Amino acid sequence: MRPEEEVRKWIEEELFDRVPVAISVIDRDYHIVEANETFERTYGKAKGKVCYGLYKNRAERCEHCGAARSFEDGRIRVSEEMGIEREGEQTWYMVHVVPLVRPDGSIPFVIEMSTDITEAKTLQKEKVAAERLAAVGSTVAGLAHGIKNIIMGLEGGMYVVNSGLKRNDSQRLLSGWQMLEEEITRISAFAKEFLDFARGREPQVSLVDPNRVAAKVVELFHDRAEQSGIALQADLDPGVPEAAIDEEGIHSCLTNLVSNAIDACEMSDKKSKHVVLSVCDHDGVLCYEVSDDGCGMDYDVQRKVFTNFFSTKAAGRGTGLGLLATRKIVQEHGGQVAFESERGNGSVFRLELRRENLPEPSERGSMDAHEPARPQPKGS
Ligand SMILES: Nc1ncnc2c1ncn2[C@@H]1O[C@H](COP(=O)(O)OP(=O)(O)OP(=O)(O)O)[C@@H](O)[C@H]1O
Ligand SMILES: [Mg+2]
Repeated sequence: MRPEEEVRKWIEEELFDRVPVAISVIDRDYHIVEANETFERTYGKAKGKVCYGLYKNRAERCEHCGAARSFEDGRIRVSEEMGIEREGEQTWYMVHVVPLVRPDGSIPFVIEMSTDITEAKTLQKEKVAAERLAAVGSTVAGLAHGIKNIIMGLEGGMYVVNSGLKRNDSQRLLSGWQMLEEEITRISAFAKEFLDFARGREPQVSLVDPNRVAAKVVELFHDRAEQSGIALQADLDPGVPEAAIDEEGIHSCLTNLVSNAIDACEMSDKKSKHVVLSVCDHDGVLCYEVSDDGCGMDYDVQRKVFTNFFSTKAAGRGTGLGLLATRKIVQEHGGQVAFESERGNGSVFRLELRRENLPEPSERGSMDAHEPARPQPKGS
C-alpha cells in the first residue's frame, strides 16, 4: 500500500475514533446519530439519545442552542459550554458546531466537536481567586502599616503622660496629652479616608461653575502655603461654562492635588516656590491643572503613584490614598488623570473631564450619576 493510501485509510477508518476530541453528529431533531469513542467514553452511550439530555441533563432543548442556529444559517460556530459527564462531574468544553450542507443547501446534520477545557478553566478560576487574595493582602498590609505608625505615636504620647504622672509634672502631662490627641485625630482621619475610599460616596451631580471649586480650594490652602513660603495662585478662566460635576468630589480631588503640590514644594530646597491651580476648557474638555516647582518625582515613584497606600511621605503625613481616590472620582465623571513630572523640577497633575462624558445633573440623586451621559449630537 502506498503511503498516501495508508494515510487516507487511517483517516477514514481510525481518525474519527482516535482524536482526543468528542465528536457527535446531530440530526434536526437533536438526536445523536453518530458519536466517536472519545465522546462515548466521556458521556456514555450516545446514539439515538437527544444531545441536550445527554450532556446537559435537560428535558428540553437549550435556550441558546448553537446547533439550532447553525441549522438555520449554515455557519460554523464556536462556544464555551458547561456539561455533565457520565459520572455526573461538571465539565467545561469548547465546542465547534459544523453544519453538513448538501449540494441543494439543505442541512440534515451538524457535527459537534468538543474539547475538554475543564483544567484550563479551573486554573483560570484559581488565578482570579489568587489575584483577589493578593489584592486583599496588600490592602490589609497597607492598613496595618498605617495603624502601626499611629500606634507608635500613641505609645510615644502614653510614655510622656506616664512620665508626667510619675514626676507630677503638669507641663509634661499636658504635652503628652496633646500628643495623644493628635494621634487620635490622625487615626480617625485615617479611618475616614480609608472608609470613604473603600465605600465611595454617591456623587451629587449639579451644574456648577468650575472656577468656583478651584477658587475655594486655593482659598483653603492660602494660609498653609504662605506659612511655607509658597506662592499659591489660581489661574481661572471666567469664560469657562458651567459643567455637570459633583462639586464635593472635584473639590476633594483638587484638595488632594494642591496638598501634594505644597508637600512637594516643602520638600524642595529652592528659594522661590510656586503652586498654580488653573482651569481651562478647550476642544470639549474641561481641564483642572495643578502645577508645582517642588521636588518632582523620579521614574520609580511615577510608576507607583496610583498604587494604594503608596506614599513617600513621613509616617502619619501621607496615607497613600489621595491620588487613587482622585482618579476614582475623575473616572466617575468619565474623565482621566494625567501627569508629568521631573525629579528636582516639579510636577503637573491634570484632571481631564470630557464634557460629553460628564454625568447628567440629577435631582433624583446619584443613581444615574455613575452612568456617563450619552454624547450629545454635534451642533445641538
Ligand atoms: N506634586 C507632586 N510632587 C511630587 N510627588 C508627588 C506629587 N503628587 C504625588 N506625589 C507622590 O505620589 C505619592 C502618592 O500621592 P498620594 O496623594 O496618593 O498619597 P500621599 O499624598 O502620600 O498620602 P494621602 O493619602 O494623604 O494623600 C506621594 O507620596 C508622593 O510621593
Ligand atoms: Mg496626597
